[in-house]
This record gives sequence, structure tokens and C-alpha cells, in this order.
Amino acid sequence: LDDPAADPFAVAEQAASDIARLTRVERHDIALTLGSGWSKAAELIGETTVEIPATEVTGFTRSAVAGHAGTLRSIVTPRGRRVLVIGSRTHFYEGHGVRRVVHSVRTAAATGARIMVLTNGAGGVKSTWRPGRPVLISDHINLTAASPLEGATFVDLTDLYSIRLRDLARTIDPSLDEGVYCQFRGPQYETPAEVRMAKTIGGHIVGMSTALEAIAAREAGMEVLGMSLITNMAAGIQTTPLSHQEVIEAGRQAEPVISKLLAGIVGAL
Ligand code: 6GU
Repeated sequence: LDDPAADPFAVAEQAASDIARLTRVERHDIALTLGSGWSKAAELIGETTVEIPATEVTGFTRSAVAGHAGTLRSIVTPRGRRVLVIGSRTHFYEGHGVRRVVHSVRTAAATGARIMVLTNGAGGVKSTWRPGRPVLISDHINLTAASPLEGATFVDLTDLYSIRLRDLARTIDPSLDEGVYCQFRGPQYETPAEVRMAKTIGGHIVGMSTALEAIAAREAGMEVLGMSLITNMAAGIQTTPLSHQEVIEAGRQAEPVISKLLAGIVGAL
């Protein structure tokens, strides 16, 4: 993937064949990336048939970030849907390039998955959203100045975050609110001025993932569902300093509730 001459889609095909071989599951229907706070959902979705270290799959690198697992799992839902659970996310701020960031999404598409569920832990810009609250992503603003698309690939992003899937999520929890996700590069949290900017341009959630992955998923023709766990209020909205520890802790506390919600949603897909 680091070789500019390499074809990232061929690498994803290779990764998909690694997954088929290691899990003995030929094709998957749904892929789910677990962000911070969401990992317990995997156990509730269905029976895990196999769990494999991500490092055994072509193009995957071990996540250096605390709170991120580093395994891929193949799960069967009670309705018989095959779910590829990606517990290993490469963030743009890790500096390995956008191809690495979206490799898991392209691999998921290559395994046959038509639905991509992207979850994350993020900062809330709306002061009414308290930490621990899950929200649906309705749209995004990509503030990374990067793109997973190479060359003249003009992709439409209207309704990128599927209305059908958002409606379906609300049948599981009618109280789910939604908002626009702003992906910043990170890894530093935003300044209060940047958070004010995000708010001014129509953002409600600030984070360091998901938007680039959603673009790659759309390019691959997948239907996308995005969900954020508000782990903290963004800088300037909350008056206390932000810390990764706080994010992990909020995720840990909210985990039982949001995992049940996510499992309910995936089970209904
Ligand atoms: Cl406040 N900002 C960003 N970019 N990511 C976060 C966050 C804030 N809180 C959790 N993740």
C-alpha cells in the first residue's frame, strides 16, 4: 500500500482472500468498524465463529492507539447475516497515508459486504449532548484536506449516510439524534476556535476518523451507517481540559448501553 504503483483494490482483494482462508467464511454481508466505546457490541451481535489478529491480513497494521483492539472477527447474526467486525482501525493521524486508513473498508467491500457500519468516539459540539450519548451521523465535513480517491474519481456523496439505515436505527431507538460529523486530522484535539468554526459551518460532532472511510465505502458502492458515541464535549464547550483517558473512560461507561443498541441495529439489518 505504501508503493504508489501498487493497486489498493488488488491489495484489498488479497486481504479479502486472507480473511476467507483464515475465517473459513467465503463472503460477508455487513462490515462493522468498532470505534472507542463500541467494542462490546461484537459479543451481542451473534456467535463469533472466528477471531483473527489483523496483522495476519494483507495490508493491516496493528493499531497503536489504546482502546482499539486489533482483531477481525466473523460473526453470524441470529438472522443468518455474516458480519465482519473490524476491531482494528488505522487513523489518518498515524501518518501511514489514506490508503492504509481506508484499507479495511475496501477489504470489507472485497469480502462481499454491501453495508458498512462505521462507529467512533467523538466530541460533541452541541451543549445539550452529554457524554455517553450515541448519535447518528447524518452527513460529514471532511477537514483533513485528504481523500481516499485517487485521480479523476468523481464520486457523488449525496445521502452518503443512508437514510434507510438511519431510519432503521431509529426503529431500535427512536430517541437517537443525528448530526454532522467533522473529521479533523488530529491527533491533537481541536482548539476552542476550531470548535467554533466547526459549529459555524454546520458541524455537530468532531472526531478523527470515519469521513475518509465513508467516502471509500461510497466509492465501493456500499451503503453506509455512521454512529458516534459522544465521549466528551469539544474544547470550549466543556470547560475542563480534554484527555484521551476521559474519552476511554466515557466509552467504558457507555459501553453496555450503546453496545446493546448497536447489536440491535446490526441484528435488524
Ligand atoms: Cl473533542 N475531538 C476530536 N477530534 N476527536 C475526539 C474528541 C474531540 N473527543 C473524542 N474524540
